[in-house]
Amino acid sequence: MAERCSWRTTGARRRLLSCAIMVILSFMAAGPVVLTEGIVFHVANRCPFPVWPASAPNTGHPVLAGGGFLVPPGKSRRVAAPATWNGRFWARTGCNFTAANGGAACLTGDCEGRLACNGSAGAPPATLVEVSLHADPSKGSSYDVSLVDGYNLPVAVSAKPDGTGKCAIAGCAKDVNAVCPPELQVTAGGAGGRRKAEKTVVACKSACLAFGLDAFCCRGAYATPAACRGSVYSRLFKDACPAYYSYAYDTTAATATGCYAQEYAITFCPSRWGDEEEADGGRDAQM
Ligand SMILES: *[C@@H]1O[C@H](CO)[C@@H](O)[C@H](O)[C@H]1NC(C)=O
Ligand SMILES: *[C@@H]1O[C@H](CO)[C@@H](O)[C@H](O)[C@H]1NC(C)=O
Repeated sequence: MAERCSWRTTGARRRLLSCAIMVILSFMAAGPVVLTEGIVFHVANRCPFPVWPASAPNTGHPVLAGGGFLVPPGKSRRVAAPATWNGRFWARTGCNFTAANGGAACLTGDCEGRLACNGSAGAPPATLVEVSLHADPSKGSSYDVSLVDGYNLPVAVSAKPDGTGKCAIAGCAKDVNAVCPPELQVTAGGAGGRRKAEKTVVACKSACLAFGLDAFCCRGAYATPAACRGSVYSRLFKDACPAYYSYAYDTTAATATGCYAQEYAITFCPSRWGDEEEADGGRDAQM
C-alpha cells in the first residue's frame, strides 16, 4: 500500500482521496478492532530491579509481544492478546544479553539466551502464571499461579473489571527465596560460587524439580490427588504463597475461573512481599 499511495504518483487528487480512505479503513481494521475483540495484559514490575517478563503460548496460539521484553522497575507494559489465548507468563531475572554467547543470558527463567523468547518456554525454576482465556460466555477465562516447577519471584494477577470478585490471585506473604532450604536453592553464582553475591538465592526449585521423584511429581503410583498429598517442601511453598499451586494436586490453590474481563494485570513483586489489597496493574509506561 505504501507504494500505491506514494505522493509522487500521477493522477493526483482522485488517487489521494482513495488512498486517504484506504488508510482510514486499514486503521479501523488493524487498530481498535484487535483491542475490542481481544484482551490486554498489563505486565507490571514493582520489583526494585529490572525484570524481563516472558510468555509462551500453548500449541496453536500466537506468540505475544515477541515472547519477551524488558520492564524496568516501576514500569509496566501493555500486551494485547486474542480473546481465546492460552499460555503462560513468567519473569526472568539477572539478565545480560550481551554476555549470553549462546548460553543462558538470565539467572532465572532463561529462554535460550534470547531477549524475545519467540514462544520458547523458560528454564525452571520460575513462578508461572498459567492463563486460559475463553471467548465462550458459558465458560469465562481462568488462570492460576504455579510453583510446581519452583519459584523465582512473587506475582499477583487481577482482572478488570472483576465482575465475580473471584478473579484476583494474591502475591506471597513471604519471599520463598529467603526461606528456601539449601537442597532446593538456585544461587547467583551457581554451585561453585563462593563470594557473598554469588551465594544470593535467586530461585527455589520445587521438590519435583530438585529430586525428580514420583512422590513429589505426582507421577506413577502417585498420579492421583488421593496419593499425592504434598510434602514438607510443598508446605513451605504453601506457607509463603498460599494462593499458588505448591504441587501438582494442590487443591487449596486459588484458581480464578469464570472471569469475563477485558484487561488483566500481571504484577511482579506486587508489594513488599504480599499486599492482599493489590488490585490495579499500575500505570503503563510508554515503552
Ligand atoms: C554484560 O556482559 C558484558 C560482557 O561480559 C559486560 O561487559 C557487561 O558489563 C555486562 N553488563 C552488566 C550490566 O553486567
Ligand atoms: C520465531 O518462531 C517462528 C516459529 O517457530 C519462526 O518461524 C521464526 O523464525 C522465529 N523468529 C525468530 C526471530 O527466531
